[in-house]
Amino acid sequence: MLPILLLSLLFSSSSHAADFCVADLTGPETPSGYHCKNESAVTADDFVMTGLGVPGNFSSMFKAAPKAAFVRQFPGINGLGISAAFVYYAPGGFIPLHTHPAGSELIVVTQGTLLAGFISSANNAYYKTLNTGDAMVFPQGLLHFQVNVGETTAIAVVGFSSPSPGIQTTSFSLFAGNLPSALVEKVTFLDDDEVKKLKKMLGGTG
Ligand SMILES: *[C@@H]1O[C@H](CO)[C@@H](O)[C@H](O)[C@H]1NC(C)=O
Ligand SMILES: *[C@@H]1O[C@H](CO)[C@@H](O)[C@H](O)[C@H]1NC(C)=O
Repeated sequence: MLPILLLSLLFSSSSHAADFCVADLTGPETPSGYHCKNESAVTADDFVMTGLGVPGNFSSMFKAAPKAAFVRQFPGINGLGISAAFVYYAPGGFIPLHTHPAGSELIVVTQGTLLAGFISSANNAYYKTLNTGDAMVFPQGLLHFQVNVGETTAIAVVGFSSPSPGIQTTSFSLFAGNLPSALVEKVTFLDDDEVKKLKKMLGGTG
């Protein structure tokens, strides 16, 4: 009697496991992602991101235009352990040294030539010129960069091993924030003139 009851409970239509957990972006993001949007409100649009083929605004400083498809822009990837980005680089454009604390990155060059690399915890730099059709991985948490060393616009499609890999850019952390100049100088060995110059350039305070 009991096994039959259990089986009927297991196979009853109302007790299936969820196939997905589309982010309810009206609630907070937790370490395990967003809460699930009510399935009755989920549509195909939650699983589709359009417009990645159109560059965003090019940064005047970096001459690059990254477009993220993280969970905040792409709610259908909540809980799936993946996300993406599309990056355009004008000639000479670059993505400054940064890390994604929560995810590894796979970059595929779909147009042009990029010099890309990362720096390991042992301070070894691994860098290489990537042409159209080449890919490289940046292991989770390590500092990395890309520079367009070609003469045309370069384009890269990027995948991450987290729906919310995060991004921390070294120069912004030091010179665009509020860490006081004296402390920046103490913890980086840089001199006062250089720190003040970079804070002015990147908008930092203190
Ligand atoms: C989901 O939406 C349906 C239809 O609007 C509603 O009946 C149901 O109570 C909702 N479920 C939850 C958990 O809010
Ligand atoms: C691009 O710049 C325009 C004008 O400054 C701004 O209105 C728009 O929101 C920006 N787009 C993105 C994707 O940042």
